Amino acid sequence: MQHVPVLAAEVIAGLDLKPGAIIIDGTLGLGGHTALILERTAPDGKVIGIDRDARNLELAREQLAKYGGRVRYVHSSFSAMNTLGVEADGVLLDLGFSSVHVDAPERGFSFQNDGPLDMRYDTQGELTAEDIVNGWSKDDLATILRRFGEEPAAHRIAKAIFDARREQRITTTLQLAEIISAIVPRRGKAHPATKTFQALRLVVNDELGEVEKGLQAAQEVLKPGGILAVITFHSLEDRLVKHWLKEHLEFESLSKKPIAPGRAEVLSNPRSRSAKLRLAKKR
Ligand SMILES: C[S@@+](CC[C@H](N)C(=O)[O-])C[C@H]1O[C@@H](n2cnc3c(N)ncnc32)[C@H](O)[C@@H]1O
Repeated sequence: MQHVPVLAAEVIAGLDLKPGAIIIDGTLGLGGHTALILERTAPDGKVIGIDRDARNLELAREQLAKYGGRVRYVHSSFSAMNTLGVEADGVLLDLGFSSVHVDAPERGFSFQNDGPLDMRYDTQGELTAEDIVNGWSKDDLATILRRFGEEPAAHRIAKAIFDARREQRITTTLQLAEIISAIVPRRGKAHPATKTFQALRLVVNDELGEVEKGLQAAQEVLKPGGILAVITFHSLEDRLVKHWLKEHLEFESLSKKPIAPGRAEVLSNPRSRSAKLRLAKKR
């Protein structure tokens, strides 16, 4: 179970790491980026590794055992990084889900393998995808599919869900994927349910709200001259980060355009295909 860190070389160079640096990794995942950060900041650099997912935090702890006390593990949202009493030289946010989430059908992120319609990163969270799919009005479903999935067939899918759940509660990922496949033709390589699953995941975890609060929190914890590195995986997130950085003059963008992976990385790690890295320096 290995999570290949995306845009690793670019993140490491961008964070301008020095021995002894204090870095907040707000999305620790399996600790792929953090391991590289610890190597570059040896012998005494520290990482505060935050993840909402307790299971990923445990996996990261195993992966990073050899670094001992140089890592502090925090089960929390990165939007609360400003409550930890840390002043950081750098903050990394590598947004979204990890390969572990998609590879574990029981977490409900996969439309290839059947699992409960869950999609929570934090399994203590109150809202699940099943609650939304079975409880929200047709109009509200259509609105989130359009807004958070940018799904052109939002209305038709919302109606199909509404009709299907009158017959039977929708409780599994394959049940939902099949309802969508029955009315939306496959376009290109992507599964017809891709955008719907994205929309549900974003709402279940309030992901865009988290990003906005996380950027604000990063601004508070970074020392002057400290670097913010954000990796996004879809246009909604990237637009949000881009506009936020433009509006907040406390940050100087370090690249006009976001950094994208090269061909070799995309070929060896298809998940990196849609990744974009933005770097900014706190003034
Ligand atoms: C793309 S993965 C990070 C992978 C990591 N950089 C690595 O190299 O292993 C994103 C991680 O962020 C976590 N996550 C998502 N939203 C979060 C939030 N608001 N606060 C904290 N962690 C979050 C997910 O649980 C997931 O483990």
